[in-house]
Amino acid sequence: MKRSIYNGLLRKEHAGQKVTLAGWVATRRNLGSLLFFDLRDSTGIVQVFTDHPDDFPDIRSEYVVKVVGTVRLKDKPNPALATGEVEIVLEEMEVLNKAKNPPFIIADKTDALEDTRLALRYLDLRRPCMLNKLKARAKVCKIFREYFDENGFLEIETPILNLSSPEGAKEYLVPSRLRHGAFYALPQSPQLWKQLLMCAGTERYYQVARCFRDEDLRADRQPEFTQLDLEMSFLDQEEILTLMEGFLKRIFKEVAGVDIVTPLPRMKFWDAMDNYGSDKPDTRFGLLLRDLSSYMEGVEFNGFEGNPFIKGIVIEGEAPSFSRKVLDEVTMEMRKFGLKGVLSIKVEKDGLGGSFAKFLDEEHASRLVNGLSLKEGDLLLFAASDSRRHIDTALGALRLFFANRLGLIKPNTYDLLWVVDFPMFDKVEGEDRYTAEHHPFTRPKDEDLPYLDSDPERVLAYAYDIVINGYEAGGGTLRIYDHDIQWKIFRLLGLSEEQVAEKFGWFIDAFSYGAPPHGGLAFGLERLCMILTGTENIRDVIAFPKNLNAADPLSKAPRVVDPKQLEDLAIMVKEEEEK
Ligand code: AMO
Repeated sequence: MKRSIYNGLLRKEHAGQKVTLAGWVATRRNLGSLLFFDLRDSTGIVQVFTDHPDDFPDIRSEYVVKVVGTVRLKDKPNPALATGEVEIVLEEMEVLNKAKNPPFIIADKTDALEDTRLALRYLDLRRPCMLNKLKARAKVCKIFREYFDENGFLEIETPILNLSSPEGAKEYLVPSRLRHGAFYALPQSPQLWKQLLMCAGTERYYQVARCFRDEDLRADRQPEFTQLDLEMSFLDQEEILTLMEGFLKRIFKEVAGVDIVTPLPRMKFWDAMDNYGSDKPDTRFGLLLRDLSSYMEGVEFNGFEGNPFIKGIVIEGEAPSFSRKVLDEVTMEMRKFGLKGVLSIKVEKDGLGGSFAKFLDEEHASRLVNGLSLKEGDLLLFAASDSRRHIDTALGALRLFFANRLGLIKPNTYDLLWVVDFPMFDKVEGEDRYTAEHHPFTRPKDEDLPYLDSDPERVLAYAYDIVINGYEAGGGTLRIYDHDIQWKIFRLLGLSEEQVAEKFGWFIDAFSYGAPPHGGLAFGLERLCMILTGTENIRDVIAFPKNLNAADPLSKAPRVVDPKQLEDLAIMVKEEEEK
C-alpha cells in the first residue's frame, strides 16, 4: 500500500510533493471533462482533481480507493476545511473496494433519523463530526490515565461478574451455568471493590470502569456507561477536590481549548436547592428562586392553606408576552412535579395584573414590588406547596424552561462548580426510617455526628458533586472507616445486624482489619465528553449506544435466546416477547 500521508494532514507546505493516499470517496462533482472528489480518511478530507476523468476507473460514493497524485495550491482556498488550501492532482487510482449506495448522506449535515443512523452505525461514524467526538473521548481517557498516573494512582480492574447487591433494583443479572438458580450481577459501579482496595493498602486507585444500570433512559443516561473512577486514602475532602480540579483543568484545556479558573466555586446543597431548585444548578444564567412566604403572610388565598412553601421566579420584561399558550405550557411542566400550576403577577403601567393580582391589597402589593425590586414589564411566576423539595424542584424546572425559551444560555460557556454538604439521609415518608442520600458508607460531617441521635435529617455528609452547565458530571464522598459510626448509620437505615451480615458482611469485615480514612469519586465519562464536545445527546459520544428502549438497533440486542441455552441454565421464561 505504502500510503505516504494521512489526508487530513495535507497543508500548503506539501505543495509540489507526490503523495499516496487512501480512503473513502465522499462528495463527487463530475463536470464532464473535470472531476473533483473529496477523499476521506480517519483524519479528514482532501479534494482530489483531474481534468481527464476517462483515464481512471469509475468511482461512486463510499468506494474505497488508493490515490497517487501531486499536491498543488488551490486557486480559491476553502477556509471551511483544514486541508482547504490544497488539492491533489490525480495521477493513479486503484479501486480497493466497491460500496453499495449508502441510505443516508455521509457528511456532518445529514437528514437521517437517529434510529437509521444507529442501525448503520458504522456508516454514521464515518461522518467527521461523529469521529471527532470519539477522538475527544479517547483523549479524555488518555489524559485521565496520564494525570492520575503522574499523581501516584494505580490502574486496577475490578470484577464485572459480581454479587447482586441489596439495593439491586437497577441491576442486570447474569445466570450461572454451574449453579442453577444463582445469578451474578453486573456492576452499577465498582464502589465496594475500590473501598476494599483501600483496605488492601493500594492507597490510590483509578479505573476506566464500565458500569451497568437498568434504569429509565434520559438524554444523559445510558444502561451501560463508563466512569472515570477513583479512590484514595489519607486525603481530606479539600485535598481530593483540588486534585480533581487539576484533572478538569487539563481536559478542558487540551480537549476544548478552554481555560477554567481554579479553585472552582463550592456551593452548599441547600443553597443550590433554595436558589436554583436543583442539586445540579445551571449557573450560566440568573432567574434565581425567590422566597415569597413572608410577602404572602395575611393574603387570603385558598391555595396557600397547608402549603407554607411559597416561591417564585421573576422574569424581567416578560409580562407583556406572557400569553395563555405559555401559561398552558408552564402548567403542564408544573404538573410533572405534582403542582397544580403557577400563579402570575405582571407589573403593568398602572399597577399589578395577572391571575393573582386581585388577591393582593395595596399594602401587600407594594411590599412585594419593593421587596423584589419589581419593575414595569416584569413577570412574577410562583407556586405554593407543602414540601420544600417539591416547590424547589418544580421551580428549578421552570427556571430552565424560561432560560431555554428566552435564549439566556450563552453558547460555548462553561460553568463548573462543586455542590457540597449533601444531607446524609432522606426520610421515608410515613415511616420511622431513612434512606441514604448517597450510599450507607458515606461519612457524616464530624460536626454533625451529635445529631445522628437527636436529629438525623439535619446531618450533612462529606459528599460532593461536580456540576458543569447543569449536568452532574461526577460525584463522590468520603467513606466511613469507624466501626461505631457505621453501625449507627445501618440502624438509622433500618438494617438489623443479621441483615447487614447477610448483605454486606463480606465487605464490612474488611473494615475490622485496619481500614484507612478514604474517599473517592467517579466522573461520568460520557457526560464529560458531551459537555466538551457540545452535544446534548449522550449517544453521540458512544460508539455503539443503546436507543431509548435500551436496545441496539444494529445487532438487535436484546433478543430471545435459543431454548437450549435456557435449558443449560435451568431457566424457564414465562412469556416470550419477540420483536
Ligand atoms: P454515581 O452514581 O453518582 O456515583 O455515578 C457517578 C457519575 O456517573 C455518571 N452516571 C451516568 N452516566 C451515564 N448514564 C448513566 N446511567 C449514569 N449514571 C451515573 C454521572 C454520575 O455523576 N460509586 C459512586 C461514586 C463514588 O462515590 O465514588 C457512583 O457510582 O456523571
